[in-house]
Amino acid sequence: MGREFASAAARWVHLAPLGARPVVAAVCDVDAETLAWYERLDAPPLLTDDYREVLGDSSVEAVYCAVPHHLHEEICIAALAAGKHLLVEKPVGIDLPANEAILRAIPDELLVRCSSELPFYPGGQAVARWLAERRYGRIVEARAQFLHSSDLDPAKPINWKRISAFNGAYGCLGDLGMHVLHLPLRAGWKILNVRAILSDIVTERPGPDGALVACDTWDNAVLLCEASDGEDRFPLRLETKRIAPGEMNTWTIEVDGMVGSISYSTKQPKTLRTMSYEGGVSQEWRHTDLGYTSAYPAITGSIFEFGFPDAVLQMWAAFCDELAHGPDRMRQPFFCATPEESAITHRVFTAALRSHEEAATVSLPG
Ligand SMILES: NC(=O)c1ccc[n+]([C@@H]2O[C@H](COP(=O)([O-])OP(=O)(O)OC[C@H]3O[C@@H](n4cnc5c(N)ncnc54)[C@H](O)[C@@H]3O)[C@@H](O)[C@H]2O)c1
Repeated sequence: MGREFASAAARWVHLAPLGARPVVAAVCDVDAETLAWYERLDAPPLLTDDYREVLGDSSVEAVYCAVPHHLHEEICIAALAAGKHLLVEKPVGIDLPANEAILRAIPDELLVRCSSELPFYPGGQAVARWLAERRYGRIVEARAQFLHSSDLDPAKPINWKRISAFNGAYGCLGDLGMHVLHLPLRAGWKILNVRAILSDIVTERPGPDGALVACDTWDNAVLLCEASDGEDRFPLRLETKRIAPGEMNTWTIEVDGMVGSISYSTKQPKTLRTMSYEGGVSQEWRHTDLGYTSAYPAITGSIFEFGFPDAVLQMWAAFCDELAHGPDRMRQPFFCATPEESAITHRVFTAALRSHEEAATVSLPG
């Protein structure tokens, strides 16, 4: 993800000027090959295998923390103590105590946001606006999914994301959960309780020498939550899966309402489906081709396609916009996921672990 950011920064000219641009001043990675990759940047940054060197560099204003989950707490807190603004990758701490420790360390004067780029797809933005305008009437049900199948092959070698000591007890939820919760939380929906079923389907994978080692993370999670939009309670179904045969990073959000329904999936990234229903009138889904209708204007014509690197670029534009202009003077209103939103995801994931363990519905505090 560090290289994704460097690539986004390198094509900042893609965006209409927004009064702020990132320059990669310093990079830390403990892997020499990964670190060497950054030598190709036009203005080569300081390269180091010790993050303290990055934090000690006075030219560094903000830090992007994209490391294995067990390192989030230490590096984020050190970055904040060094006075750096922060964009931290999900899940913002390996577990709830780590997340709470990071949130406690945030001083008022620093901007901290959590990486979550999928809502920056034009379809995600359309859903965010539709939710903000509460075009649904009474909600019947909402569903959000993040599905891939990277782990379908049992011969795929182990890596840190498949070991709970580094990825966390949440397994696929820690990895993918912010993706499904970002827009429901931004809509202001409150999650009241959760019933979770977690699956550990592939329990061993080839280690560095080819011998099988434990793969002790949850591969798939299905959560049935009861949520409230402040007026009504409704079922919110959340799915995060690393073994979803046939899926390749498919992010889907769907809301069925008594007045309006909406459905967007990166499976068909150009297509937004909406339905406005008035009693007695036939039910007709409307399919809108979205094109490149991004939050921040870009050189790409509106008839062309939008993709993952574009969503990353747009998310970074939102972070830099908010950093440069403040929350009230952003060029467009959709800001990156907040630390408070990450804290709610941790409470949901923690409740989901307990729900699965006890085969019970777990209420969320407050
Ligand atoms: N937003 C997204 O869509 C998205 C996608 C994938 C991963 N992520 C998140 O990004 C973070 C990193 O995931 P990734 O897929 O980039 O993992 P990765 O394994 O590809 O990269 C992690 C990097 O951290 C480096 N590293 C390990 N220990 C370090 C240390 N002590 N100091 C400095 N560098 C160290 C590794 O060498 C590696 O290059 C995680 O929080 C993950 O959940 C987000």
